[in-house]
Amino acid sequence: MRVLGIETSCDETAAAVVSDGREVLSNVVHQQLADHQPFAGVVPEVAARAHLDQVGRVVQAALDQSGVGWDGIDAVAATAGPGLIGGVLVGVMTGKALAAARGLPFVAVNHLEAHALTARLTDDVAFPYLLLLVSGGHCQLLVVEGVGRYRRLGTTIDDAVGEAFDKTAKMLGLGYPGGPAVERAARAGDPTRFDLPRPLKGRAGCDFSFSGLKTRVRMAIEGLPPGPMADTDITDLCASFQAAVADTLAERTGRAIEMFQADHPAGTLVVAGGVAANQAIRARLQDLAAKRGLAFAVPAPALCTDNGAMVAWAGVERFRLGLTDGLDFRPRPRWPLDPDAPKAIGAGVKA
Ligand code: KG4
Ligand code: ZN
Repeated sequence: MRVLGIETSCDETAAAVVSDGREVLSNVVHQQLADHQPFAGVVPEVAARAHLDQVGRVVQAALDQSGVGWDGIDAVAATAGPGLIGGVLVGVMTGKALAAARGLPFVAVNHLEAHALTARLTDDVAFPYLLLLVSGGHCQLLVVEGVGRYRRLGTTIDDAVGEAFDKTAKMLGLGYPGGPAVERAARAGDPTRFDLPRPLKGRAGCDFSFSGLKTRVRMAIEGLPPGPMADTDITDLCASFQAAVADTLAERTGRAIEMFQADHPAGTLVVAGGVAANQAIRARLQDLAAKRGLAFAVPAPALCTDNGAMVAWAGVERFRLGLTDGLDFRPRPRWPLDPDAPKAIGAGVKA
């Protein structure tokens, strides 16, 4: 069985064909970098128009590269939220139109669930597992009990971790997208030069907070001698910031592991979302999992940042459980994974 997946919730226009045998038959991603670069961030209206321009070509390329053609496709899945609503509408309408024209079932995919399930595509991880979901709009620790079954252990009380990377990059003039630029600069830097906080360290529970860290980066920049920043100032600040994030993620995830292991002594720690592409963060969490006796899985970087394969795979998982949706499915700009999510928390519009 094969599913065509479409992703348009932020600034990647992406489509892929994935089989229930865990094969990625094609995975085409168009990044809208040039469209958003002048604004040093994603502009929702610009993103929606770019998705409209690109989605037809990207879907056709995904079909062509898969080598199976329409006869080999069993369902069409599209990200139906959460995300920037203009882009989500483009993907959902495209997916519904293709499903209707071809007489195929339509699967409305929650973008967060697509990130959450990717480790089952790449590593065949069994339920239940502990998930650290770190992206541009979210920072959450969840127990993934099954498809559509999530129990939240912790979430950010202010900014998402990817947002902190992006804002740090912007303050340092590294442009957009911020995460990869900060990671590159950090490689050459001294992580001990700037004394940055580890927010909520030692605090009960496993919530996150990143806005104070962002403020301290700004104060560190203001404390530098006047004039243009030296390259070493930039690389040292990136290294110090990334070390603070890695420490914080590891400390908070360590607490979540205790909660998870109360019910499940063995299992897997999965890391997903765009920030999971960061090598320093991956290494740090892998080390944590090993010390606590958990297996570890993180998708390849190209499957951590937004892509169509994760949506197609979530489509496979839902379709084989009979979880398809009507063509009247309404896109959801906000769509928490867990039913208990407080309304105002994790409130970034990005996923
Ligand atoms: O999952 P994703 O592609 O889109 C959302 O669903 O938000 O995540 C994008 C976020 C951005 O904030 C980006 O700066 C961050 O992931 N990111 C990274 C890296 N690559 C992407 N952050 C740190 N290091 C990276 N290598
Ligand atoms: Zn995402």
